[in-house]
Amino acid sequence: MHDVKTYWFDCGPVTAIPLRGARTVVTPRREIAVFRTANNDIFALENKCPHKGGPLSEGIVHGHKVACPLHNWVFDLESGEALAEKACVRTFPVKIERGRIYLDMGVAASG
Ligand code: FES
Repeated sequence: MHDVKTYWFDCGPVTAIPLRGARTVVTPRREIAVFRTANNDIFALENKCPHKGGPLSEGIVHGHKVACPLHNWVFDLESGEALAEKACVRTFPVKIERGRIYLDMGVAASG
């Protein structure tokens, strides 16, 4: 089995992401959308809709969900699962320390 090392990448302050907005982090393997909800919860998902590749970071965040900007599929930010479709977006571990967001780059950059 392949061991993934934890490496927390500093994505900047929580306040740098607008409420109900997102920013993207590019890793060698994928682009990741880091979302901030209206309640200041932070989630990280692959920035690629499993339907036709829409950029989820440009979707509309409501509650703990995001709607894809292309065809409006809605995904749970916590699980990555689509609400009405049989599809799932990969999610990644994040943590907040002293107001800054850290993304587990070990997982995010792995296969
Ligand atoms: S590309 Fe996201 S719903 Fe179609």
